Amino acid sequence: MPIRLGDIAPDFTAETTHGTVHFHEWLGSSWGVLFSHPKDFTPVCTTELGYVARIKPEFDKRNVKVIGLSVDSVESHHRWEGDIGETQGCAVNFPMIGDPDRVVASLYDMIHPNANDTLTVRSVFVIGPDKKVKLMITYPASTGRNFDEVLRVIDSLQLTAQHKVATPANWKHGEDVIIVPAVNDADAAVLFPGGWNTVKPYLRVVKQPGT
Ligand code: BEZ
Repeated sequence: MPIRLGDIAPDFTAETTHGTVHFHEWLGSSWGVLFSHPKDFTPVCTTELGYVARIKPEFDKRNVKVIGLSVDSVESHHRWEGDIGETQGCAVNFPMIGDPDRVVASLYDMIHPNANDTLTVRSVFVIGPDKKVKLMITYPASTGRNFDEVLRVIDSLQLTAQHKVATPANWKHGEDVIIVPAVNDADAAVLFPGGWNTVKPYLRVVKQPGT
């Protein structure tokens, strides 16, 4: 069965560079990002892992735990971490799952045989504190991901989990948001006492709650 948004993220136990991880227990009450890369000791992956390590404080600020994965062994990850630290200016500071038997990769459908039948694609799963899948993104091996975009989506997911709003195209934290259509004007007046701008009856723009 493919994983879909709103599904419970499959639980697993795996060996990682930080020891054995029981995934749901490890997540605890945090948000989570589980992301795969195709292969250790490859150039694009080296830049990605280094970048995630550099912005880890941004994930921490948002109460998000980050964990990487590839079909390489934990031992390989440990050796590769030296290169990442040396070349990317930041030591890897989050666990990487060693998945040579492809157990987790299969659970999360991270191997796309028509792209490559042995390596994981560049998958990103964002998981909420309720353990449900909130976001899935898939990139090919040839394209490094934009992890600032992952942070931006997490900002949107966390905001919209708390308030009856949605975020418009290219929205960034602090910018105006949209009142969800399910909220009528009478209820909106209670929820958004500062008022809003009705561009169309279905397009009501309001200041981001909490700013
Ligand atoms: C890379 O990280 O550069 C890479 C990995 C697998 C296939 C192609 C590129």
